[in-house]
Amino acid sequence: MKKVLVVYASRHGSTRGIAQRIANVLQSDGLEVVIAPADHAAGVGTAEAVVVGSAIYMGSWLKDAVEFIKRNEVTLAELPLWLFSSGPLPGSSMQKGPNVDPLTDALGPQDGPGSGGRKKIAEISAATYPKEHRVFLGAFDPEDPPKVTSERLVRMLPAVKKALPAGDFRDWDAIEAWAHEIAATLATPAVPV
Ligand SMILES: Cc1cc2nc3c(=O)[nH]c(=O)nc-3n(C[C@H](O)[C@H](O)[C@H](O)COP(=O)(O)O)c2cc1C
Repeated sequence: MKKVLVVYASRHGSTRGIAQRIANVLQSDGLEVVIAPADHAAGVGTAEAVVVGSAIYMGSWLKDAVEFIKRNEVTLAELPLWLFSSGPLPGSSMQKGPNVDPLTDALGPQDGPGSGGRKKIAEISAATYPKEHRVFLGAFDPEDPPKVTSERLVRMLPAVKKALPAGDFRDWDAIEAWAHEIAATLATPAVPV
């Protein structure tokens, strides 16, 4: 039975919920799964495949997820790796417009002003060769108080208040379908070269 490590960084819990659902599906598809928050996951251990996901705040992944990938870069580059971001809320895109790809929507442009968080993801992706980076809609509960000062300040800005719709927009069908795809890929024997 292949062992998969699912690592997540979540501030308010919705990304944790996505990671947990992915882990459940992988398990039901016959994989052995370990799930851990990025700040507790020191290493990759004996995992043969890894899924890493983070919430996005102001165009950036949470530090713990970036740091988990950085400190395990060499190992992750040798393993099948999938990344996911959770993610835009309807109407809260970093960069709006037709035909905007999901990563740009969630993390912002590849270059120029506001590209810092996106560049960090490009950097860790270039070092670890993820098979895919999927973006899922997230959730926002305005009653759940900010967890860090920067979030408190940002949430007070009138433009941000207007742009952040309250609700749980997680698309469980899309999340489960993706997890099944991962399980199917892992079930396919590698072609010898
Ligand atoms: C202050 C604030 C800033 C956010 N910035 C972004 C962003 O830049 N891009 C994005 O896609 N989603 C953004 N979101 C949406 C969150 O990523 C979404 O709510 C996510 O599901 C939160 O995950 P968590 O509950 O695991 O912390 C933001 C949400 C808040 C409250």
